[in-house]
Amino acid sequence: MSPIRKAIFPVAGLGTRFLPATKAMPKEMLTIVDKPVIQYVVDEAREAGIEHFVFVTGRNKSVIEDHFDIQVELELTLKERGKTQEMEILQADLPPPGATSFTRQQAPLGLGHAVWCARNIVGQEPFALLLPDMVMQGEPGCLSQMLAAYGKHGGNVIAVEETEPENVHKYGIVGVGEEDETGFHIDQMVEKPRPEDAPSNMIISGRYILQPEIFDLLENQATGAGGEIQITDAMISLAKQQRFSGVRFDGRTFDCGSKVGFLAANVAFALSRNDIADEFHAALTDIMSKDAKARQPAEKGGGPAA
Ligand code: G1P
Repeated sequence: MSPIRKAIFPVAGLGTRFLPATKAMPKEMLTIVDKPVIQYVVDEAREAGIEHFVFVTGRNKSVIEDHFDIQVELELTLKERGKTQEMEILQADLPPPGATSFTRQQAPLGLGHAVWCARNIVGQEPFALLLPDMVMQGEPGCLSQMLAAYGKHGGNVIAVEETEPENVHKYGIVGVGEEDETGFHIDQMVEKPRPEDAPSNMIISGRYILQPEIFDLLENQATGAGGEIQITDAMISLAKQQRFSGVRFDGRTFDCGSKVGFLAANVAFALSRNDIADEFHAALTDIMSKDAKARQPAEKGGGPAA
């Protein structure tokens, strides 16, 4: 069974839901506490043993490339000022030399097309695909948990989790087949179904291990949901020839493509940080109690005279 050495990060999306923040800055560089969203996702891949990081970018995304490079002037200044802790943080976040590749998706034709744009860099080997909108909090990380299922069954592996029926139309949904100790056999997939057409309430949560045959299928993939070339549609074709396993991630997932998900991620990660958790918890409790009071309906007779 081939090891998973390379990971694709599609980062070409416009981030219109976060305007004006994303007018001049990629949405993947929005911060959760003090690190950009993309750093969390790259860290998850590194923890799982990924050696090569392939970013599919678009216009106005070059700052992502700068983020994963050495900032010579900054490092010199930090050194001069004896800021060793800050230097260590920067160095820990940096992928090794030669471990990143950047290619551009020239037109916004869909997630499947973005993945296909990385085909020559990945080559003929299985790879991981991590969607940076979805930020995962768990130990071990989501991709590490998926590697256990890959080690057992090989083939293709998708991280899944339950959602409310009213949310199924926002995601890819899988059908739950035979269960085993690492998860289950996926027997159906559908991209953004109507609730009545969804085979379950299990969403494809943005982490995949895929075999390279997916690239040939993507090459001729017709447009699907939203008029875009969908990775899910190519996976449906691949599932006719190869196994797809579903792994329920043991941890928390934040859909940082939505404002509420992004804000919740900030709260959860801040509360998990030893350096600020106590102080932040106190600040949050204060905000919540003031907010609760403000929301209470005026007591009988206590309101302003009509
Ligand atoms: C993509 C996938 C979808 C998946 C989702 C997770 O959709 O096509 O199957 O459930 O990511 O975030 P998108 O969010 O790009 O519309």
